[in-house]
Formats: sequence, structure tokens, C-alpha cells
Amino acid sequence: MKCKLKVTDVSTGMYVAELDRPWLESPFLFQGFTVESRRELAQLRESCQFVYVDIERSRPDLQSKIQRAAVLDRGRGGSVLSEEAPAEHRFKSIKRELARALDIRQKTSQYLEVLMDDARMGKHVSIQGVRTVVTELLDTILSNPAASLWLIQLRDKDEHTALHSINTAVISMIFARHEGLGRDDIEAVGMGGLLHDIGKVRVARSIIHKDGPLDDDEMAIMRAHPEQGYRLLMQSGGVPDAVLRIVRQHHERLDGSGYPDRLVGERIDPLALMVGLVDVYDAMTGDWPNSPPLSPHKALAKLRKECAEQFGNERIERFIRCMGVYPIGTVVSLSNGARGMVVTQNRSNRLKPVLMMLEDPRGNPYRRRPLVNLAAEDRGGVSWGIQNAVDPHEFGDDRLRSITAAESLI
Ligand SMILES: [Fe+2]
Ligand SMILES: [Fe+2]
Repeated sequence: MKCKLKVTDVSTGMYVAELDRPWLESPFLFQGFTVESRRELAQLRESCQFVYVDIERSRPDLQSKIQRAAVLDRGRGGSVLSEEAPAEHRFKSIKRELARALDIRQKTSQYLEVLMDDARMGKHVSIQGVRTVVTELLDTILSNPAASLWLIQLRDKDEHTALHSINTAVISMIFARHEGLGRDDIEAVGMGGLLHDIGKVRVARSIIHKDGPLDDDEMAIMRAHPEQGYRLLMQSGGVPDAVLRIVRQHHERLDGSGYPDRLVGERIDPLALMVGLVDVYDAMTGDWPNSPPLSPHKALAKLRKECAEQFGNERIERFIRCMGVYPIGTVVSLSNGARGMVVTQNRSNRLKPVLMMLEDPRGNPYRRRPLVNLAAEDRGGVSWGIQNAVDPHEFGDDRLRSITAAESLI
């Protein structure tokens, strides 16, 4: 039996089965764990008001204490936890949140275009405006991380810098939340993510859009963008120090291979490393000239293989856990040959996400793309497992782009 308890009544030895918020919004890696340390207890108290404690899985001597502390949960009929909301209900809320997140993202994109034009013309950047935009983005992340991550899949070749900045901000905030950081730090990585490449407004467009490798002089100009951004924001005034550090240090790497200051190890701000890691991930999955996009799944594998010395093994592993085994937007092949795209994760089983089906087992495209909850399919006696992730370009970039047009889901 699961009982709802105020976090102040939770003690070590109790088994927390569920939080009062989605796991992605909490610093805890797994749904369902025994509280073993004071640190975990403190994290729990910082991130939740209520939790659901499983009596049978808690230490036997705590069971009567749990029952005494249980509070009535009207929404769930008594103190006992009811079944999860039906899948259909959750799909509807995904669509609603998606529409809202899409609207906010479009507004943010327009705002960023204006801000960058202003910066290009030497006008000051209003940090208050940036803060307002970040607060709105953070609200959509907290209400539905799945919708926010899904939107990252919607790219357009012409909107590169603005979208890359928004994606970096959104994923960095989701990662920061997952790392258990407080609201101030989460907002700092959000603002840092939005502004990290602002220094590129001082780099000639011919260099930014060059088709082919940059020569040494062009590379030096390009590599000056973190410092240019830092100066530009310093002149604007009022930008928090943490945000300035993120902008200046987002290309610094733990092993000293970064720029502009070749900082090593702890001399790099951890928030800058966090945004730097997300920046690399978003660049890998994005559609840039000279490099085809990787699927989110492959990008995570590449980060693990090639970037451990630059960002630290543990940070990368935590990022992978944060994004999920099959990140939202990944196209997967199922054991029966059908293909679908991950649209949201299942909290209880991360190997069984919710898919939007793209092709039936014979490879025919679905006309109306049904949503399938792989975990629920299991319950019906049908077992559909994911066989592997499919590269976006293997699936056909253009087709994918038309599929990921948000209208197809809303
Ligand atoms: Fe950059
Ligand atoms: Fe970037």
C-alpha cells in the first residue's frame, strides 16, 4: 500500500514510490527508491511537498509511523495510490502542452531575432527581456518536459542560430533541473543558453555561412565569439555574473583543449560546462552545413565515446540518464518491423516509451499516425520491443521534417 506523506514526515529507510511531480523535474534518477542518506532527504525536501511511500517496501519498524503520518489524498480517493491516468488522457495533455510550448517557442524565436539584430547594430541587450523569456520557457518545461523536448525536433534550416540557442537553453534547463540545481542556477543556464552564441553577431556572415572548412584566419575570428559575446553583454550591463561566465566559457573543456582561455578542470564554471555539453549535443543532432544530423540516440553514444575527457565521464552519464535511453524525437524500429518516433517517455519503463507510429510492419506509412504506448501494449499480451534507433537521414530527412511539423500532432 502507498501512502501520501508530507516530505517533512519522511525519514531514511522509507521507500519513496512516487513524487508529487514528474521524475524529470526532480533531481532523482529513478522512480522508486529507498531514502538512504540525509543528503537524499534534503534533496527530497527541497524538490517536493508530498511523496507517496510504499509501506511494504519500507523498513518494517517504520510502518506504523508511515500509517500515522499518512494524509488524506482527496484526488486519489483516500491515502492509497490509484492507477496512473489512462493513456488517452495523457495524450490529450501532451497535445495541449505541445501547442502552448510551440507558441512560446515561436515568440522566443522572434524575440531572439530582434535582440540579435539590435546587438548587430550596437544597441544594448535588455537582460530583463531575456529573463522574462527564460521564465516562460521554464514554466513550459516544468509543466511538461516531454512537450519541450519534442519541440527541439522541429527544425528549419533557415532559423539556425535562434533555434539552436533556444534548444540549448531548454535542454540545459532540463539538465540543470535533473542535476538538482536551484531556480537561480536553472534560470542562469537558461539565459546563458539563449545568449551563448550572441558574440557571433560580430562575426561576418560570410564566415558563419561558409560552405566548407574555415582557413586559419577565419577560424581565429570565429573562435573569438565567446569573448565578443562576453564584452557585448558587459557593455549592456545588468547581466548576472553566472550568465557572463557561461557565455565566455561555453567552449572551454576540462582537459584544456577549449578556448578562448584554455582553462583546465575546476577553473571552468560547472554551469558553463553544462551549457557547453548541451551545445555540442544540439550541434550533433542539428542540420548544419557539412555534417548530417545524428539521431538523438546516436549523438548520446558519440558523446560518451568521444567527449569524456572534455566534459567528464560522470557528467556525460548523468546527461544520458536525463535525456532517456531513447530520447524524445528518436525514430525507432520495432521487433515486428514497424517504425515510430518517440514522443514521450514512460516514467516506469524507459525502454518502453510512447511512440507516434510512422510505418506499419510492411513499411507502408500510416495515414493517421496513431500513438502507441509500448508499456501498455505489453499489458495487453502483445509485446512490441524496440529493436534499434534509426538515423534521421536513413529515414529520409525531408519526410521526417514533414512528420515533425507540429501540426501533424496537434
Ligand atoms: Fe559557441
Ligand atoms: Fe552554440
